Amino acid sequence: MTQDSRQQSLNRANHRQEPAPRIKQDKCTGCGLCASVCLVMEKRNKKIVITRPDLCIRCGHCGAICPSNAIVGPSVEAKRLTDRARAAAPSASSLQFLLRSRRSVRRYKNEPISQKDMDKILEAGRYTPTGTNSQGIEYIVMTDRDQIARLGKMAMPSIIKLFGMAVRVSKIPVLGDLMLGNQAAENFQKIYTPALKAIDEYTKRGDDRLFYHAPAIILVHGEKLDDMAFSCSAALFSCMLMADTLGIGCCLNGFLVLAANREPKVKKWLGIPRNHKAHAAMTLGYANVKYNHLVKRNPVRAKYL
Ligand SMILES: Cc1cc2nc3c(=O)[nH]c(=O)nc-3n(C[C@H](O)[C@H](O)[C@H](O)COP(=O)(O)O)c2cc1C
Repeated sequence: MTQDSRQQSLNRANHRQEPAPRIKQDKCTGCGLCASVCLVMEKRNKKIVITRPDLCIRCGHCGAICPSNAIVGPSVEAKRLTDRARAAAPSASSLQFLLRSRRSVRRYKNEPISQKDMDKILEAGRYTPTGTNSQGIEYIVMTDRDQIARLGKMAMPSIIKLFGMAVRVSKIPVLGDLMLGNQAAENFQKIYTPALKAIDEYTKRGDDRLFYHAPAIILVHGEKLDDMAFSCSAALFSCMLMADTLGIGCCLNGFLVLAANREPKVKKWLGIPRNHKAHAAMTLGYANVKYNHLVKRNPVRAKYL
């Protein structure tokens, strides 16, 4: 990472520059609950000590658990969490239903997403866990149809070129399997490539099968780390679930992620910083389709060790 990009990411993760939580000694009862959930606090001689303030990641857990409001700081929410507030959480069965009934939606009403709904969707991603609480997830929100069409036109040729390369690699004995994995190598030849050809043909005829004439696209980007890939994808999935509750359908778009990461022109046009990667993207709009049945999926494949 260059000095510039390091500085840029420091500027972005500005909560790290905020003061670490502070213990108000007059309120602290020395119960030690904070030290039990924090890696940089200890109880010594009935007193709580912040042993390594330099390693504090501003997660706010110390203040969140303190029963006597003795811990203050920018990452700590002063308002107490009441049982009434907790009761608003979805039940296991309602969450299970939301997870099971959510479908990828590729048919959208010809209607822009209201700012109020978009705010709720983006807010849903805000509380996603991030490695070392970096909170380094960034969103690109596109709501201008002309710009979305322009992006599609720019991305399509590079997606086709990249898939062509992948197919050529997948046909090289052993190397193809090693580089792509046997399942992916087969998928490239039998599914992705013919599907992509069909998408291109439809799209050229004015039926946008890349972005489905969506009134909006959200792309999440962050630093090129594995934990950011998880954080960004998890954040976007939270956004998807929130959208579902608002009657807004979403469809993840792997093609756009590929183009944004592999085609410098697309990455630059989107304004993704050099030290960042697109980790996930989706099209979204008010759903113009209603599914009448649930779908079946493979059973859980889990190995207990
Ligand atoms: C990583 C990822 C990338 C995807 N990319 C696309 C895409 O580019 N275009 C598309 O139409 N659907 C895409 N999908 C949607 C899948 O086709 C869809 O999730 C799958 O068929 C299951 O359907 P469901 O979401 O309704 O359960 C993607 C899904 C995932 C998880």
